[in-house]
Amino acid sequence: MKITEVSDGIFRLSANVRDILFEGMWHIPNGVAMNSYIVKGKKCAIIDGVCDWDGVPETLYAQLEQMKIKITDIDYVIVNHMEPDHSGWLRSFREMRGDFTIICSEKAPPLLEAFYGITENIRTVKSGDTLDLGDGRVLAFEDIPNVHWPETMATYDTKSCTLFPCDAFGSFGAVSDDAPYDDTLTEEHIEFFEREMERYYANIVAAFSKPTQDAIKKLGGIEIKCIAPGHGIVWRKDPERVIRSYIRLASYAKGPARPEVTVIWGSMYGMTESAVKPLVQAIEAEGVPTRVHRVPETDMSFILDSVFQSSGVVLGMPTYEYKMFPPMAAAVDEIAKKRIINRKAFRFGSYGWSGGAQRDLEETASRLKMHWDFLEPVEFMGKPTEEDIKLIRERGRQLARAVKEWALEKTSGE
Ligand code: FEO
Repeated sequence: MKITEVSDGIFRLSANVRDILFEGMWHIPNGVAMNSYIVKGKKCAIIDGVCDWDGVPETLYAQLEQMKIKITDIDYVIVNHMEPDHSGWLRSFREMRGDFTIICSEKAPPLLEAFYGITENIRTVKSGDTLDLGDGRVLAFEDIPNVHWPETMATYDTKSCTLFPCDAFGSFGAVSDDAPYDDTLTEEHIEFFEREMERYYANIVAAFSKPTQDAIKKLGGIEIKCIAPGHGIVWRKDPERVIRSYIRLASYAKGPARPEVTVIWGSMYGMTESAVKPLVQAIEAEGVPTRVHRVPETDMSFILDSVFQSSGVVLGMPTYEYKMFPPMAAAVDEIAKKRIINRKAFRFGSYGWSGGAQRDLEETASRLKMHWDFLEPVEFMGKPTEEDIKLIRERGRQLARAVKEWALEKTSGE
């Protein structure tokens, strides 16, 4: 990969990572970019690092060489966030040179020691602190806790008005060497990264939507001409666009989200499955789009993305051992942990020897404080009868209408 100039004195170093599970669990079929930034005044700082996955630190070192920057030229390493996808290279960096200063938030040093055994040459900063690099280049720091771990901070270059927010405003998706900026990408490519951003947000940021809203509010008082995140593309033509996207996404956590319905279904012998198509047709006949996922076949990353973006959710599942069909129970648990609350919802499904899925779902939704507004469920013994299918269609239409009305209420309330 090539090093590129973000603006005068600021350079983006990056490595694309593929064929891994992000955080060990999220599928990234389109890869992900790991970004670091060199900021030069009289002194030189590197903001954010990269993981120590095979070949990644070496990619970064090769890019430093392209710039003719020696490791010994770097005075400060600014660690906005301690998750090892950004801090993992510190171990090898420290082995090459022991005396650079790490700048981090007050909550980071215990993690530096626990992850990498680093206890020296650390300077902690808090909101409002600054670091003068010389040549008129002053970096300012702002704590943005829980976006998405507690120690996170953002760095702001007061000279160029560039914000380095690490994970915030990031996205999945490998970035081409030739076009890492919103002003060098086609609209089609920007929309690709916006879609990747939505799944990234649903997977790793959703549970922290309130802290994300707080951080956006906090950063709202500063002039931002460029946003340079730790993942994805750099927004220097229209940074407001990514801020608007994040504001919209953060609002989805408590609903309403898009006027769409996600249908998640699982079936053992095709009995629950036989009601899926009529249900989807009924929802779509009301003009409401659906996103349909089967469990356990669909990866959780995509289910979370859909549910997060939909105001309505249908859960179609049979009873299994007196409880919810296990893959659906796992999905519901994960959705609740991401704090995707306040959805219009409906559940249908079959049972054989006894019921139990419905009771289990109600207990789970209540215990996990999901606040989902469920229509009356439709359960059937064995295969659904024509009457059951008729009722399920009717519930589908009801749900679609409720989702549309909610969207209208939101619009009229704005
Ligand atoms: Fe990109 Fe939270 O690490």
